[in-house]
Amino acid sequence: MNFSNKTCVITGGANGIGRCITERFLEAGAHVAVVDLDASAGNRLAARFSPDQFFYFPGDIAEQAVLERFSAAVLERFRRVDCLIHNACLSRRGLLSGCSYADFAYVQRVGVLAPYYLTSLFREHFAPGASVVNIASTRAVMSQADTESYTAAKGGIRALTHALSASLSGTARVNSVSPGWIETAAYHTGEPAADHSRADRLQHPVGRVGSPDDIADAVLFLCSDRASFITGQDLTVDGGMTTQMIYHADCGWTYDPEERT
Ligand SMILES: NC(=O)c1ccc[n+]([C@@H]2O[C@H](COP(=O)([O-])OP(=O)(O)OC[C@H]3O[C@@H](n4cnc5c(N)ncnc54)[C@H](O)[C@@H]3O)[C@@H](O)[C@H]2O)c1
Repeated sequence: MNFSNKTCVITGGANGIGRCITERFLEAGAHVAVVDLDASAGNRLAARFSPDQFFYFPGDIAEQAVLERFSAAVLERFRRVDCLIHNACLSRRGLLSGCSYADFAYVQRVGVLAPYYLTSLFREHFAPGASVVNIASTRAVMSQADTESYTAAKGGIRALTHALSASLSGTARVNSVSPGWIETAAYHTGEPAADHSRADRLQHPVGRVGSPDDIADAVLFLCSDRASFITGQDLTVDGGMTTQMIYHADCGWTYDPEERT
């Protein structure tokens, strides 16, 4: 896919899945602007590309002023936005470990409020054919215990996707990608990830854990003209893990209610 002369904005694009998306857009010819908390990773990335290709802005997207300064800096450099990828998020756990009012609110500010507000700041500056992609999670629709802060943010961004797709009708398409288990170690340390156990691999119907490239492929597709009839949708990229039904005594798995946490 060719994104020559397109401008792509990515939150949390200095590490993990976000860095993979950043590098894939750069390889495809785009100009990329990244906002990320991690200044050393952001500066390392900036050192590898020319300033007209890549722009790194340090900051915490939970802060309204950071979003306003970042969007102003992007528009000053690039004038318009073709692809907007809301990728950054985090967990501060949940009910069982005492996730506080401030912790819960912080995760929603990063995971839901920042995507809403940054989109609104770019609203008048989307190029024709623009595309917004929100990185949600399969945890938007299923949970482990003690995950409320993250799960709520992921449910929120998935619902925000269809709301924004209606409001931005004629301006930008808006979709989300819901990753399952994605091994991001290589995009933190630069070293290949350790092998996963056979059980970890085979619990996925495709027989492996996901990679950041699996998510980048979906994001670049949704941003491309090939997806011009798709908006308001969520694309699950999880190797089939969330659609595999397992009953007690299936697949060697047994359920012991006494061990439920
Ligand atoms: N890795 C997975 O298995 C997985 C599964 C489902 C969904 N996701 C989602 O994919 C996205 C990326 O996940 P990841 O595993 O690559 O995460 P990561 O923690 O490896 O990287 C997140 C990046 O976002 C940045 N960031 C975090 N909070 C920020 C803030 N407040 N302001 C600015 N930058 C901030 C971090 O510095 C980091 O560079 C997230 O939305 C995550 O919820 C990941």
